[in-house]
Amino acid sequence: MITHHRDLSIDFCGVRFRNPFVLSAAPPTDDLDMVRAAFDAGWAGAVLKTTSVESEPVSLVYPMMSAMHSGGERIVGFGNIDLISEHHIDVVEQRVSTLKREYPDRVVSASIMGSRKEEWQELVRRLEAAGVDIIECSFSCPQGSMGEEPGAMLAQSIEATERVAGWVKSAAKRAPVVIKITPQVTNIVKVAQAVQRGGADAICASNTIPSLMGVDVDNWVPYPNVHGSSTYSGMSGPATKPITLRTLAEIRRHVDLPITATGGPVTWRDAVEMMLVGATTVQFCTAVMHYGVDIIDDLQDGLAFYLDDKGLKSPTDLIGKALPHIVGHGELPRDAKMISSVIEDRCVRCDLCYIACRDGGHQAITLKLPDRLPTTDPDKCPGCGLCVTVCPADAIEMVKK
Ligand SMILES: Cc1cc2nc3c(=O)[nH]c(=O)nc-3n(C[C@H](O)[C@H](O)[C@H](O)COP(=O)(O)O)c2cc1C
Repeated sequence: MITHHRDLSIDFCGVRFRNPFVLSAAPPTDDLDMVRAAFDAGWAGAVLKTTSVESEPVSLVYPMMSAMHSGGERIVGFGNIDLISEHHIDVVEQRVSTLKREYPDRVVSASIMGSRKEEWQELVRRLEAAGVDIIECSFSCPQGSMGEEPGAMLAQSIEATERVAGWVKSAAKRAPVVIKITPQVTNIVKVAQAVQRGGADAICASNTIPSLMGVDVDNWVPYPNVHGSSTYSGMSGPATKPITLRTLAEIRRHVDLPITATGGPVTWRDAVEMMLVGATTVQFCTAVMHYGVDIIDDLQDGLAFYLDDKGLKSPTDLIGKALPHIVGHGELPRDAKMISSVIEDRCVRCDLCYIACRDGGHQAITLKLPDRLPTTDPDKCPGCGLCVTVCPADAIEMVKK
């Protein structure tokens, strides 16, 4: 660990975070000692796993987790069929007040889900009385929201999103209200606008993505195998990052509300990317479940060095910096022509660029004898970039024609 002396603090909805890194509502925040350990390690905040009123039964099934592995990489995508916490509001309100007493400089958020207006509002009142800093509302559990049609998520309905956000906001006297939405919609901007019309203070984008994680080809049961049956999982982890980035950018370009990002980050670089497309803070779950809370050291050090390198004062200076570069397809420049060029001393002669260009591109690469160096024919190469993408050695660059 390198000791970072830099101020990484950031303001989100008037609440100060000592750095932009937060634990999302999930197993790492469903136990008091685990949150203590995370705060001791340096996390700025935690969203306690989604809770409900005492009368709400929560019936979990096991096993609940599975994953997509790829090319030797464990957990490229992570699937869960978990539900909200088994700990009801009576436990969570205690945890909030304990954590606020022990860690006054950390941000304690709590996630809630109700079925009726009275439940949502009771949860808000009790959490505020316990001293919660921020209230996050799960409108996006992939197993469905309580009180709505079975299997559907609240945030898939524009009308329900606005209505329930309004209930929560009208009950919250002090704590900012964040609505956690799903990317599984036709128009994410319309959902974000409904959050804004409901009066909520911010958006959490976005929850896990309904998925089928795989099928066991020996017994034909999809994963996770719950004694011969399965169901759709919510997918998180690295594979979801591009969807999160698109979702963040779409919202931030059209709706003026702060966003806390969730979905896919593992490294400080992932977090910076999310801030560059509009996030203020970045929540982590799968990476912590995989590698542990101590990844916070690398997150803080990496961000500190990056800001120094870029000559930026604060993480706030990153928010939205990539957005001006996102345009519609029709507005992309069409004049400047690029072609690929192999960097000879990096090439490992694996032939992958040659094969990809031959069978999926423009037959523009030949293997030049005597040493089989891939060589681009400038007359055939339109600069599609396929060879750069498949090269395992970073040995191909795009250059002006
Ligand atoms: C096992 C598990 C349980 C989760 N439970 C909740 C929950 O109770 N409430 C909630 O809002 N999100 C829940 N999530 C979603 C995470 O908070 C997070 O939004 C999601 O995993 C995407 O982030 P990641 O790619 O960093 O994991 C859960 C995720 C996992 C993996």
